[in-house]
Amino acid sequence: MDMTPKEIVEYLDKYVIGQKNAKKTIALALRTRYRRMQLNETLQREITPKNILMIGSTGVGKTEISRRLARMMKVPFIKVEASKYTEVGFVGRDVESMIRDLVVNAISIVKAEKEEENREKINNYVINRITEKLLPPLPKGASESKQDDYQRLLEAMEKRVEDGEMDDKIIELEVAQLQVEFDDTNLPPEMAKVQESFSKVFAQINKEDNKREVSVKDAKVLLRQEAASKLIDNSSINAEALKRAENGGIIFLDEIDKIALSEKSQGRNDPSKEGVQRDLLPIVEGSSVSTKYGTINTDHILFIAAGAFHVSKPSDLIPELQGRFPLRVELESLTEDTLYAILTQTDNSLLKQYEALLGVEGMELVFEDDAIRSIAKLSHRANELTEDIGARRLHTVLEKILEDISFDADEYKGKEFKVTAELVHEKLDEVVEDDDLSRYIL
Ligand SMILES: Nc1ncnc2c1ncn2[C@@H]1O[C@H](COP(=O)(O)OP(=O)(O)OP(=O)(O)O)[C@@H](O)[C@H]1O
Ligand SMILES: [Mg+2]
Repeated sequence: MDMTPKEIVEYLDKYVIGQKNAKKTIALALRTRYRRMQLNETLQREITPKNILMIGSTGVGKTEISRRLARMMKVPFIKVEASKYTEVGFVGRDVESMIRDLVVNAISIVKAEKEEENREKINNYVINRITEKLLPPLPKGASESKQDDYQRLLEAMEKRVEDGEMDDKIIELEVAQLQVEFDDTNLPPEMAKVQESFSKVFAQINKEDNKREVSVKDAKVLLRQEAASKLIDNSSINAEALKRAENGGIIFLDEIDKIALSEKSQGRNDPSKEGVQRDLLPIVEGSSVSTKYGTINTDHILFIAAGAFHVSKPSDLIPELQGRFPLRVELESLTEDTLYAILTQTDNSLLKQYEALLGVEGMELVFEDDAIRSIAKLSHRANELTEDIGARRLHTVLEKILEDISFDADEYKGKEFKVTAELVHEKLDEVVEDDDLSRYIL
């Protein structure tokens, strides 16, 4: 992860319009962790991350920012919803399980890297095992010339297996080693270990039954897993993954406002919300959490929390938790121009999605610029008149404009269909201005 803050913002700009402050703060937080890792250990220990709280009304890009980060990041990163957790002692997921999820994520990153490093070895192993099955072994005491012949045959066969020429052939394979992994992170690690040993025992017992007839093609996939577990030292993966999760891990805690206790809705509040907040305190502040793979210290894990805070306010969180998120960024509400930019400037924008979808039917959908302007304008207006649901409004508005065309797409096969400003107004004007209608339809 050695992208500069500018590069991170540039990457986010491709998908999220505006929200400069949020992007900047996050980019800087990520870079700070990179900088920290370059220091000596004593200093490293002193520098703890400053957690971030993103505040912005619904549909303005909070989750989108995290989703894009998650895809780009090579560091352990998970996104979780605060509202999914329950207080320790109650039925449900406890907050420590998010740390275990982070470790599982780190394991998969390190594993993928190791597999990439050992690609050739793994490949050879797979090819050898399959060739063994296809070519009966040479009887003992064969003459030297026979052995030479056999060697040549073997090499030729290996090549054919590798090139996929044998893919349809059926071979018998014992797949007992492929134990199922239990990664239920809600189980305490001791339980998870017990469960795992059970599954190992059963795999052993079933060894004979696990001979299966599979095509060479499938065998390649199955053996790849076996090869990876044989050739790569698991304990080194675990240690490395723990270290990375500990020092570089990021947890995006979405919907944090849903566990705040607002004064307005007191009484209806679930008392365990406060419990979840209390459970979060030690984790965010830094504590040890035991996982199946070892104990992890959460001191240096970066937390980015986000919430709309419509009903509640950040100050409705218990003070101890507020204090643990010192960096606050506010996301702006979306203006007409931002909505226009979201439609036209993002990679994979909604318009492109619709064009591609209807393209499947052989129809070319073209949005005229005035039409896009009108869509932005009417969406913004609808947000003003009813609830402000941000860019999500674009989804409902576009769906309304295109529903008929989408239904009749077969009639436009091979033809172009222009979405004009007139069409947009015809479909929407009445709906947007009529309060009741728009509440139902948009
Ligand atoms: N600034 C933006 N730029 C580009 N797309 C955006 C922007 N804001 C929102 N969107 C789009 O709108 C949709 C909803 O956005 P998102 O999920 O980020 O909302 P949110 O801020 O997390 O809202 P909530 O508080 O309801 O969870 C997504 O499809 C996203 O692509
Ligand atoms: Mg969201």
